[in-house]
Amino acid sequence: MTDAQTAAERIAELRSEIEHHNYRYYVLDEPNVPDAEYDRLFRELRALEEEHPQLVTPESPTQRVGGEALTVFGTVKHEVPMLSLGNAFEEQDLVDFARRVREGLDLPAGDLFGDGGKVEYSCEPKLDGLAVSLLYENGQLVRGATRGDGTTGEDITANVRTIRNIPLKLHGTGWPPVLEVRGEIFMSKAGFEKLNARQAELGGKTFANPRNAAAGSLRQLDSKITASRPLELCSYGVGRSDGELPKTHYDLLQALKKWGLPISRELKKANDIQACLDYYRDIGARRDELPYEIDGVVFKVNDIGQQRELGFRAREPRWAIAHKFPAREEVTELLDVEFQVGRTGAITPVARLQPVQVAGVTVSNATLHNMDEVARLGVMIGDTVIVRRAGDVIPQILGVIADRRPSDAREVHVPERCPVCGSDVERTQLIKRSKGRETVSEGSIYRCVGRLACQAQLKQAIIHFVSRRAMDIDGLGDKIVEQLVDRELVRSPADLYTLTYEQVFDLEGFADLSTKNLLASIDNSRKPTLARFVYALGIPEVGEETAKLLARSLGNLERISRALPEVLTYLPDVGNEVAYEIHRFFSDEHNQTVIRQLLERGVALQDEGGVHPEYAASTTLAGFLGKLDIPYVAVTGAKNLAERFKSLDALIEADWLDLSAMKGVNERAKRAVREFFEDPDRSAKSRAIEAQLREFGMHWESERKKVEGLPLTGQTWVLTGTLEAMSRDVAKERLEALGAKVAGSVSAKTNCVVAGPGAGSKLAKASELGVKVLDENAFIAALDAMS
Ligand code: IVH
Repeated sequence: MTDAQTAAERIAELRSEIEHHNYRYYVLDEPNVPDAEYDRLFRELRALEEEHPQLVTPESPTQRVGGEALTVFGTVKHEVPMLSLGNAFEEQDLVDFARRVREGLDLPAGDLFGDGGKVEYSCEPKLDGLAVSLLYENGQLVRGATRGDGTTGEDITANVRTIRNIPLKLHGTGWPPVLEVRGEIFMSKAGFEKLNARQAELGGKTFANPRNAAAGSLRQLDSKITASRPLELCSYGVGRSDGELPKTHYDLLQALKKWGLPISRELKKANDIQACLDYYRDIGARRDELPYEIDGVVFKVNDIGQQRELGFRAREPRWAIAHKFPAREEVTELLDVEFQVGRTGAITPVARLQPVQVAGVTVSNATLHNMDEVARLGVMIGDTVIVRRAGDVIPQILGVIADRRPSDAREVHVPERCPVCGSDVERTQLIKRSKGRETVSEGSIYRCVGRLACQAQLKQAIIHFVSRRAMDIDGLGDKIVEQLVDRELVRSPADLYTLTYEQVFDLEGFADLSTKNLLASIDNSRKPTLARFVYALGIPEVGEETAKLLARSLGNLERISRALPEVLTYLPDVGNEVAYEIHRFFSDEHNQTVIRQLLERGVALQDEGGVHPEYAASTTLAGFLGKLDIPYVAVTGAKNLAERFKSLDALIEADWLDLSAMKGVNERAKRAVREFFEDPDRSAKSRAIEAQLREFGMHWESERKKVEGLPLTGQTWVLTGTLEAMSRDVAKERLEALGAKVAGSVSAKTNCVVAGPGAGSKLAKASELGVKVLDENAFIAALDAMS
């Protein structure tokens, strides 16, 4: 604030700037400032308003926090009733609708799709949320209401004011003095997931789906609760208004957008019913990718004059229709709960259901995730349950219809022995660590202790090992893995590499050629990258990304398998749990045998190398001391100890006098340091960690090296023809690991083409453009030189 500027002026300036950013973010989806900048403006405004409370107005962006809780909602009468929509389920329903529209408008009938008289439609998704009415008087939001029975709704003004993308004041000019906006309040899929995770953590109620979450959040007597929920508005029309408005629905929504109200990004015009059907198919195909749930699309006659002419029938407009998608939720009976054993031995309950059609597919099984979920749902065998199927995901049980519970319903119990191998079932309490302190959460998992001796775990381990993103053994489907395990031909992943022609040929469904093909693809998998191999091992908690990180940072299998958990936690994103899982996996004797056998049987890792320079010199002595968890030694204490003693050895060797003379560390901490290192186990352990860090090149003697980029950063490579020494996928991964982009076609921008035998047009194009070409041998040599 400059001297000349008053607080009032600055407040006005900040509000308008924040509103502008809100508009860009929520309505245009084109934010142009980083979050930090926005937060700074917001904080400045809040501080100024705190200093000058008389300048706070209800429209200020700071006022979206909710107010006093109500005891009851007031009622609101809708002067223009809030109607519902007729539904179309089949294409024919839509064709009939179009015919009725044409008849209503006295337009001539046409062919099947009614092209006789043209009617333009406006198309929008049908969001699955709750209808609201928002009343703006002279541009100010003065009232929000639910739909209620369509004539009378509830006054939820305090609640809607907390919703971030609802403007408290209309933007621009040209809006009528009275404007009642109608729209849907919904929760995005991501917002819903986050809210449920938060609720679960706090031990609160979780919601079955985003719609229920939106409803439960909006109809809160305490608007502070609404303020904490990720609700959004999508406007789709106007109720009351007292001025000139655009002549088409499409233009009306564009005007709302201009005035700061969010509308659907999927809004489109269609010039006949065929185009509406195309829209329905297109949105249907993208249904899973949309960030919010929809249950159909809505078509509205675009011309408002025509809408008036058509009017209403009972409680539905004749000018609009909802074309519904198949329902994703259905009701059925839970026949039984069985237990499945996963790759890591986790025993998970699976619901066996009375088969039911959901979104066009018969569903007879659904996942129940774990016993905590069973408890949360309160589900019993025999219950009537709500199942949901969406996209490719496994059907889920959303809830129980409690009043349909039969008298002979049974509780769900975890078996005491593994249903597959009969081993003991062990219960592990899930432990959540928050900020170094251990907090025991209520969750628990049940595990079969049989490991690879349990056929279920063995099968899953092999299925994972051969999968496309792991060892990529083509043609080894789940059914074949089952046979191999059932016939005891394979007892560990290493046994895949000793399978003989006769053994495979004998399997069901195999003939000469298919046997040779499978053996060839097993053979071809012998040259994985280190990252793929680590991923294929199926270490608990180690997904593809962690495997890549381990490979990239530690460089070879030997280091990864020997790394102490404390050393692993120096890698970004590797926390204590993951580090211990990795260490435990490689310390296990059986796992060591399998890995040794794999290597003896010809699996050769392609890209082993040194420790990545980024991790060398990645620690400080102070950081190291901080991680030792010496009581009372926090960041500053560790820093001061490091500065004074310069090395771990000196600190361990320090006598009491040295320590007690030292400043910047309190008495309790000094005593704790002495006691810690007096314990021979602890000092030996600390030395071992330090020695390994040093051996891996992760030391604190030099400045941390900044890695500017990888050898091929900014380059585009193209692979063509057949590569013999490695698969295309592996070649691509190795190039990407070096920073290159791998493209599918050659252009003047291509830096290099790798051409194997059989290369055709891409090779020709490369020569024509003068792009560098490498054969496979030269390529491998180049890779080795750069790795
Ligand atoms: S127009 C007179 N457009 O669906 C027309 N409704 O079954 C009134 N809905 O209560 C509704 N998305 O809550 C319209 N793009 C959309 C919609 C939509 C969702 C809901 C709305 C309404 C219900 C009608």
